[in-house]
Amino acid sequence: MLVSNNNSQFNLSRIRHQFPALRRSDGVVQAAVFSDAPGGTQMPMDVIEAMSGYLHKGTANLGGVFSTSLETAELVKQARSITGQFLNAPQNCIVFGANMTSLTFSFSRAISRTWQAGEEIIVSMLDHDANITPWVLAAEERGCTVHKMTVTDEVNLSVSELQRLLSEKTCLVAFTLASNVTGSITPARELIQAAHDAGVKVFVDAVHYAAHHLIDVSELDTDFLVCSPYKFCGPHLGVLYGKSELLESIEPYKVRASINHPPGSWENGTQNFEAIAGLIACIRYHGWLTDSKPDRAGLENSAHWISQHEEHISEQFLKGCRDIDGVTLYGSPETLNRTPTFALTKAGRSSAQLAELLAERGVYAWSGHCYALDLIRHLRLESFDGVLRIGFVHYHTEDEVFRVLNALEDI
Ligand SMILES: Cc1ncc(COP(=O)(O)O)c(C=O)c1O
Repeated sequence: MLVSNNNSQFNLSRIRHQFPALRRSDGVVQAAVFSDAPGGTQMPMDVIEAMSGYLHKGTANLGGVFSTSLETAELVKQARSITGQFLNAPQNCIVFGANMTSLTFSFSRAISRTWQAGEEIIVSMLDHDANITPWVLAAEERGCTVHKMTVTDEVNLSVSELQRLLSEKTCLVAFTLASNVTGSITPARELIQAAHDAGVKVFVDAVHYAAHHLIDVSELDTDFLVCSPYKFCGPHLGVLYGKSELLESIEPYKVRASINHPPGSWENGTQNFEAIAGLIACIRYHGWLTDSKPDRAGLENSAHWISQHEEHISEQFLKGCRDIDGVTLYGSPETLNRTPTFALTKAGRSSAQLAELLAERGVYAWSGHCYALDLIRHLRLESFDGVLRIGFVHYHTEDEVFRVLNALEDI
């Protein structure tokens, strides 16, 4: 199982060996295929051990003068620093929270206090509901209007649509870097530029994108970004990035007794320190993929390998899909500007039935709306009960892609 990356070779077996869950079989002859990855990835041993290691050593809250509390403070500092490398951001711009949805709800409550009645916000139909409803509810409370960017025929966002909706009343644009349903990668840099040209701040959802490409907040120039490490082999945790001057100037929704300056002032209640320990190990794991350090250069090496491997997987899957009778793919049929996440229907079966039949064959996959309610409605897929979503990440093999294709054909 060798995968080429320029002139070097990386052994996928070595990578998969790190993941005990990938050996799970559920009584089916072969090991399970975790093509439910867009819903959450599996964890390598180093991450599992880092989480339990922190608890073994002794846990404490922040702010004490005794060693476990001091060690926890050091752990959080290290986690901000390494996450800064992962996002190409200064460490004081990294905020931890329970998950993306909770962070977005609390952040939207805080920033919306700066909005005036009659102002407007723009969200997108392509997005997961976690980047729509928090904004819609905040807008309702503030007497603001919500506009939704519609999607193109290729199931993506377009700069012209954003420009059509932007006005002097717009106070925020929120959209995703990649669709968790169709895998479409949005033209984020251009969308952010268009919003900034109109003097509007941007909040992007990188939850799906982060598993597939290295985020660069500095290059994107986004004002805010959220992601969730459990989608890229880390623990169940959320991360928010904000430009430092904005985290300073916006008043967080917080209790009086907690820290008064960012990033801590944006972190509500006691953090999940064992997950934060796991996040450090997760980003180190990303460097380890190509025997690199978990600094920006090392993470870029690994991201390059991930892109190449995932492009190959996408190519195999897209090619195989074309030959299966009755299968319709939603989103781009090309490998360009997509992640290896595929939204499908198959004539004669509901998506829930497809997922059940795949599960019987040891293939895990999600079906339904995958929380992208507006997109499923826009694609008129309610009669199919949403889509069947097949998703791969860097630890998947070509053999697994063929197993999914064979199972789909067989059904
Ligand atoms: C694109 C996208 N955004 C947001 C979320 C919500 O993330 P969390 O589970 O961390 O709240 C998900 C979860 O599936 C997602 O796929």
